[in-house]
Amino acid sequence: MNQSTKAYRSAIVHSLGDPAKVGLENSVEYFEDGLLVVENGLVKAVGHAQELLPTLAENVTVTEYQRSLIVPGFIDTHIHFPQTGMIASYGEQLLDWLNNYTFPAEGKFEDRQHAKDVAERFLTELLRNGTTTALVFGTVHKESVDAFFEVAEGYNLRMIAGKVLMDRNAPDYLLDTPESGYQDSKELIERWHGKGRLHYAVTPRFAPTSTDEQLAIAGQLLHEYPDLYMHTHLSENQKEVEWVLELFPDRSSYLDVYQHFNLLTERSVFAHGIHLCDEECQQLADKGSAIAFCPTSNLFLGSGLFNLPKMEQHGVNVGLGTDVGAGTSFSILHTLNEAYKVMQLQGEKLHPFKSLYLATLGGAEALRLDDKIGSFANGKEADFVVLDYQATPLLDYRMQQVKSLDENLFVLATLGDDRTIFETYAAGRCVYQRG
Ligand code: GUN
Ligand code: ZN
Repeated sequence: MNQSTKAYRSAIVHSLGDPAKVGLENSVEYFEDGLLVVENGLVKAVGHAQELLPTLAENVTVTEYQRSLIVPGFIDTHIHFPQTGMIASYGEQLLDWLNNYTFPAEGKFEDRQHAKDVAERFLTELLRNGTTTALVFGTVHKESVDAFFEVAEGYNLRMIAGKVLMDRNAPDYLLDTPESGYQDSKELIERWHGKGRLHYAVTPRFAPTSTDEQLAIAGQLLHEYPDLYMHTHLSENQKEVEWVLELFPDRSSYLDVYQHFNLLTERSVFAHGIHLCDEECQQLADKGSAIAFCPTSNLFLGSGLFNLPKMEQHGVNVGLGTDVGAGTSFSILHTLNEAYKVMQLQGEKLHPFKSLYLATLGGAEALRLDDKIGSFANGKEADFVVLDYQATPLLDYRMQQVKSLDENLFVLATLGDDRTIFETYAAGRCVYQRG
């Protein structure tokens, strides 16, 4: 065990709660000249440098950053690692996009070496964007998930992933069966779930690509292992919703399909949820399930505008997702920029404190990991990012005009991207340095 203590001096900000619940003023803690003290990979203290520096033992190294901001590591609550190589595929909405681009790309993950290469590239990309935790789709091949977890384990990242379950309505080369899907998932759960910082998610792709039999088996897995995640897509595209209602004529709504097979738990995360009715939102809230809001994907595929205030009204947990490869950026900062515009198009605002919350603590709460990550509360894992105010000439110039914390955060989210990430730390260890 590494018994070392290290300290990082910079401006520091973290989220204390959802502004919709605790109010804007109580939702953040900011130290203009702050100190983050890390011991054995965990947060030991955060506060004003002047107060904490005298408490440090003499041998503790203090790393100082100028014109920088330390924030908790970003949390991406929905992303597909096998779609890294087909990001930015032209011209289609969801169902044609899946058939024309996604399925052929995912077919290649039968090859274990390919899966390993892409997993390495994917995780490198997450870290250079400041993302330290993600909820990740694999492909139908169990090898894809082995490859992903092997690489994630090497960086000691807190990550959640699962093998896709899909036994119909896709090319033969991507189909499993209820039985093989069950066996392969079980094998992966036994191998990876709870190993180090890794967790397993039962991952039916979406209702149209699983039979009743397979959805029932997904529910059975959740019953057998109560702390597993459940990760799928929900109500993303109008044609998709119509197709689901045709495929499951006995169900009252898209969400009711998942509910019928016992897939709504406190650890269930549904990507998108754009076209949900009030009843579905209430059902999500009652079950403690979460929605991943994926603005770049929703705009890119022309899926629609996510109604965040509606989710707040019903008390649904919401995290932020990039949804690469339908999403067009790995950057959570860039994703916040697009989230703001999605709200503007609906006559709503996205306050920078809410943005900070969604990108960090809100994601942790959606994933039920807020006892471990998402803020700098004592004892949490020291996953953090150093943002550079001088990353580009324009950002540098604009940041010099900033007069308040909310303006500071808004400019970072609006102009920021991978260039803004100076360093990324996971469990107290530096896992990315720019340049
Ligand atoms: N619905 C089913 N599969 C997918 C996928 O891979 N991406 C997105 N955005 N939606 C889906
Ligand atoms: Zn997706």
